[in-house]
Amino acid sequence: MGADSTALVIGATGNVGPNVVRQLIGEGVTTRALLLPDDPRAGRLPAEGVEIFHGDLADPDSLLPALEGVDAVLLMWPFFTLDVETAPAVLAHIERHARRVVFVSSIGVHIGYEHADNNCHAYLEQLIEKTGLAWTFLQTTGFTANARLSYAAQIKATGVVRSPYGAAARSSIHEEDVAAVAVRALTGGDLAGRRLVITGPEVLTQVEQVRIIGELIGRELSWQDVPAEAALNAMVGAGWPPAYASGALDYFSQLTEEPELVTTTVEEVIGRPPRTFREWAAEFADDFR
Ligand SMILES: NC(=O)c1ccc[n+]([C@@H]2O[C@H](COP(=O)([O-])OP(=O)(O)OC[C@H]3O[C@@H](n4cnc5c(N)ncnc54)[C@H](OP(=O)(O)O)[C@@H]3O)[C@@H](O)[C@H]2O)c1
Repeated sequence: MGADSTALVIGATGNVGPNVVRQLIGEGVTTRALLLPDDPRAGRLPAEGVEIFHGDLADPDSLLPALEGVDAVLLMWPFFTLDVETAPAVLAHIERHARRVVFVSSIGVHIGYEHADNNCHAYLEQLIEKTGLAWTFLQTTGFTANARLSYAAQIKATGVVRSPYGAAARSSIHEEDVAAVAVRALTGGDLAGRRLVITGPEVLTQVEQVRIIGELIGRELSWQDVPAEAALNAMVGAGWPPAYASGALDYFSQLTEEPELVTTTVEEVIGRPPRTFREWAAEFADDFR
């Protein structure tokens, strides 16, 4: 796939999507983004160089104009806000139009924590495998941006993060690095049929992540472990499917004993090491002030 080809990014205004759009434009690929009508986060996309199409994964036919003439599709599924009922029809449309699909999946599938009956990443992987598309799955660890979601409000309000499993050690990955791997898979032929387990370069406990943020914003921050049940209620209240939320908490509990996997896949694919958590936090330090 070269400069005369076309890629569509679905889930374009989240954490990963805008990075993918920017990088595809930089590679000279004709770049399309699928947005929900009136997407409040449309401003995250570059003002020029991307063709905007409106559509909704809940309404598969609404994707057809965006799919007309595409070569490759980056698929991200908003599992917490949309069930997977329409996924088979969405994939049938993608298969009829594109040759290649890259799906942002999860390390949970790789380690066997996520099962297909969760109707989440493992289920989508199974559906995609059954198509005739050249697929690549990015089985990614947690994004560095999760730190903003998990810690920023508490840091700003009190300087104390109250959450379970501070000793859970994760190999979080910068969203821009997920995007860089996705762009290679969308534009190169050699990653078809691969499940890429992609992680950041290091393992840090949640307590260490918060300490790094404190150093960067010049404030002493602390961590207070709370029971997992409280967090489970909050996660379910925020829209997490209950089975997925309790699976995630079990995984965090396991990570207090056994740190998360670190792979060299990002560097192998994009030719440079992935960014550290400190680099991410320095870039977004203002979000914690
Ligand atoms: N966060 C992690 O640690 C992690 C780890 C492993 C895998 N993943 C996977 O990574 C993927 C990308 O995550 P992210 O953080 O970049 O995404 P995100 O911030 O959750 O954004 C989801 C995107 O999908 C769009 N969207 C929502 N409902 C839609 C619909 N019905 N039709 C079309 N588009 C819709 C959203 O639009 P709006 O802006 O309008 O809402 C947004 O652009 C996710 O699918 C997740 O499964 C995440």
